[in-house]
Amino acid sequence: MSKKIGILDSGVGGLSVLKEVYLKSLAEEVYFLGDTSYFPYGIKPVDFIQSRVSKIVRFFMDLGIEEIIIACNTASAVAYDYLVERYKDVKIYSIVLSAIEGMKNFNWRKVGVLATRRTLESKVYPKLVHERISEEVEVLVKSCSEGMLLETIERGIVDGELIEEELKKCTDPLIKEKIEGLILGCTHLPFVKQVISRLYPNMPIIDPSQEIIKLVNTGKEKNVKVHIFVTGEPQEFQYIVKDLLKVEWNVENVDLDRSDVSVIKR
Ligand code: DGL
Repeated sequence: MSKKIGILDSGVGGLSVLKEVYLKSLAEEVYFLGDTSYFPYGIKPVDFIQSRVSKIVRFFMDLGIEEIIIACNTASAVAYDYLVERYKDVKIYSIVLSAIEGMKNFNWRKVGVLATRRTLESKVYPKLVHERISEEVEVLVKSCSEGMLLETIERGIVDGELIEEELKKCTDPLIKEKIEGLILGCTHLPFVKQVISRLYPNMPIIDPSQEIIKLVNTGKEKNVKVHIFVTGEPQEFQYIVKDLLKVEWNVENVDLDRSDVSVIKR
């Protein structure tokens, strides 16, 4: 059977994970779903996010996918346990857990996390760091949901004055607290990693999109076929994919609320 992986996010952020899975050839077929008509997840109620990602998991399962990467920190924070409990026939990877694995390579006593409001409120980062690394580590989480940062990246803009200003608003308070490392706890942020490194040149960064692929236990496949779905406007997303990933991949719309979505089964 051909090896299929599903990757989900609220929008373009998960493309940072898709890129890594594609470049490392981790599957024969990769399915990406961006729930763009409900972007951003970071300010939505927890039960709403759980219900949306449940629909996405069922969509992937209908396609015969057995491994799913939750390439969204917010969804991983509030729905990972919920999904694992309900869908025992699929292997589910959490981007938050991969970030914590990445932290094991450092000996930080004080770490900063840029995340969404919902991820911050879930307290998932401090909880997992204390459980899996050490109770002694101070974890400071800053929400980026309030400004224009995530919306701007969602539009495919990943550099420039606005991005710098918005990044500083979230990151400066953490830098003032003298953090020793920074976790990009939101999948949109790897696309502005270079800007972060330019603004804070000596700050070590954990990019969970690089970490998650280390957890996906699979052999190298030769030809990777990519299928991209969005719940919103596909054409605009296709332009953004081209801008961000420099590839011409087709993007299709899917309506997860339709009962016959599995007609697109291939
Ligand atoms: N991709 C989301 C995350 O990683 C951020 C954007 C959103 O709020 O949906 O948390």
